[in-house]
Amino acid sequence: MSMFRDLRDTAQKWKQLDPMPGPTPRPLVGNLLALPRPWPKTFLRDALVYGPVLRYRILFRPIVVVADPALAAQVLSTRAANYVKEPVTWKALSPLIGRTPVTHLEGTAWLTRRRQLEPLLATARTQELTQLIVAETARWLRRLESEPRAIDLVVEVERLILNLLGKLFLGHDFGDYTARISDAFRVATTELERRAFLALPRWLRTLTPSNQRLTDALGYLKQVARERVLDAKRDPQPHSLITALLSAQPSDPTLTDETIAGELLAFLFAAHEPTAQAITLACALLAENPRIQRRAHAHVDSALDGRPPSSTDLPSLGYLAQVFDETVRLHPPAPLLARVALAGDHLGEHQVPPGTTVLISPWLLHHHPRYWDEPEAFLPERFDESQSHTRPPFTYLPFSGGPRHCLGERFARQAATIILSMIMQRAQLQLIPGQRITTAPLLTNHISGKILFTLRPRVATN
Ligand code: HEM
Repeated sequence: MSMFRDLRDTAQKWKQLDPMPGPTPRPLVGNLLALPRPWPKTFLRDALVYGPVLRYRILFRPIVVVADPALAAQVLSTRAANYVKEPVTWKALSPLIGRTPVTHLEGTAWLTRRRQLEPLLATARTQELTQLIVAETARWLRRLESEPRAIDLVVEVERLILNLLGKLFLGHDFGDYTARISDAFRVATTELERRAFLALPRWLRTLTPSNQRLTDALGYLKQVARERVLDAKRDPQPHSLITALLSAQPSDPTLTDETIAGELLAFLFAAHEPTAQAITLACALLAENPRIQRRAHAHVDSALDGRPPSSTDLPSLGYLAQVFDETVRLHPPAPLLARVALAGDHLGEHQVPPGTTVLISPWLLHHHPRYWDEPEAFLPERFDESQSHTRPPFTYLPFSGGPRHCLGERFARQAATIILSMIMQRAQLQLIPGQRITTAPLLTNHISGKILFTLRPRVATN
């Protein structure tokens, strides 16, 4: 019965969306076969033909893509209360993070949880965070510099970031387990995301060869999270996400030990992969663009004069911040943001029925030729203060926008600026020749495979 109801609802929704421009769907499959991956690239191609609001049908699922900053602002900010997160995104990850982390809650429950986490990322901690990032990065660089072989930065930066997150937000040193936790995250998130798009029945999924690897990775990560909760109960730590949530337990009945463990995994998931990927890709772009790498070397030399950075140096490391900003413009770690309209709405001149999935693609907006000159070029200078104010709001959305914007934006920019400046102080980045750096923008923007570098000692810039 419910299948017929779903089909009837879909048909009604599609009828209402039909007048909206978009490529013609085929019987049954809809636009699926005409949507080559990466989807954000295809959406941009179509937006240039059909305009800023376009509709597709993927099998029986109608979706609307918004390719205009003012309309993105409407969905994410001014009418945010009408647009909840699309369940596909959280259902895909729920075997890892449960159903109630801040990334997926809605309404008052979401706001309460967000307020519980905000103090961990407060500006008051900038100095303490900087000192720890500098100390850990120095240790990490010393180890990499003594490495005689080519370095896979994808893996190395992920481990650095995970280690930092443990120390800064859990009061815990993951130590020798960092590599295993990082590897388990990579297996779990890649596989869960792939499954969300493959939509295989449950019994068939258990027969796939990757199923055992996924089960092992999930089991291990959940065990780590549960152990951390038990430890924090015995030995509360200041500035620990778990201690903060445990102390809110008496006033918040939704905070069971299990939901706190899920929140911990959601936090590590939201924080570690995007930050690590952005730093790794920034290194690759610096290595591929010698002019920009030379400018970055000269910039850190003049800003730091050979000393390690401190929190007061952050404002004078602007060029490294621009390198980071431009990297996440070209490769936003979250290339698609998916929402569902609760009530009907108008997007521009088009009517959107209740229950419609609306996609906003930071990747599309970051590559749209109307808003960016030479959108495919790596030009950190475009984030000069003199140029930034010329862009309409919501054309640049690596951290999303509106009330649900990324909670860790300031920390991610701070960590990336420090880590990149310390790499530039000591090393000349060179990519091992013959590599093709590819990312696969789906729900998140995974780097495909390894990126091998050598870190050569710096040649004098003057
Ligand atoms: C380059 C690094 C990062 C990028 C590009 C990024 C991007 C994003 C984006 C686009 C969202 C919104 C997703 C949506 O609306 O569907 C988000 C949410 C979030 N991010 Fe980040 N993130 C980064 C690093 C971090 C870090 C380091 C932390 C924590 C220390 C963090 C914590 C969160 C949390 C908790 C949310 C959920 C906020 C909410 O729903 O209220 N992120 N991030």
